[in-house]
Amino acid sequence: MDIRDHIRSIPDFPKPGINFYDISTLLAEPDAWQVTMGRMAKVVGPYAPDVLVGVESRGFLVAAPLALKLGCGFVMARKSGKLPGATERYEYQLEYGSDVVEIQKDMIAPGQRVVVLDDLMATGGTAAAVCELAHRMGGEVVAVACIIELTFLNGRDRLDVPFHTVVQYA
Ligand code: PRP
Ligand code: MG
Repeated sequence: MDIRDHIRSIPDFPKPGINFYDISTLLAEPDAWQVTMGRMAKVVGPYAPDVLVGVESRGFLVAAPLALKLGCGFVMARKSGKLPGATERYEYQLEYGSDVVEIQKDMIAPGQRVVVLDDLMATGGTAAAVCELAHRMGGEVVAVACIIELTFLNGRDRLDVPFHTVVQYA
């Protein structure tokens, strides 16, 4: 099955000139979603992760079912101010301004094997920031995986761990 057949591309969203790769249509088609999760499990499983960190919000949709499938934990990396209790925060630079990712303090134990999951990598800034946060919390970040990679943006160059995707757009 070509997963691409189930991903919708919407021109000029969120800004003119940007092509938005929308996984809504993939999620709505159980057979295609099952195949996608199977392929993700094949690349992520061999890393024997203790926890999968999903990046808010579309990364949750990928990491939570995959964690169930692989029998490991699921941890949320959220935007600023969403998580209750004590959190670890990491502020990172964007082209204009900065952003913050947070994980609850007790969600990653030192030495745990962590794989970071998201739906899509563009510039790689989000994934790199979540890796750095998980690393600062003592996790051993062993890989990053996304469904979609926009290869022409070279986001993978911002990571210092193995990176996997099941669909690429050039
Ligand atoms: C999108 C996408 C990734 C991120 C990739 O999320 O889901 O998380 O951008 O961009 P980058 O590689 O340039 O950092 P978005 O911020 O649109 O939020 P959402 O997942 O909540 O829709
Ligand atoms: Mg996202």
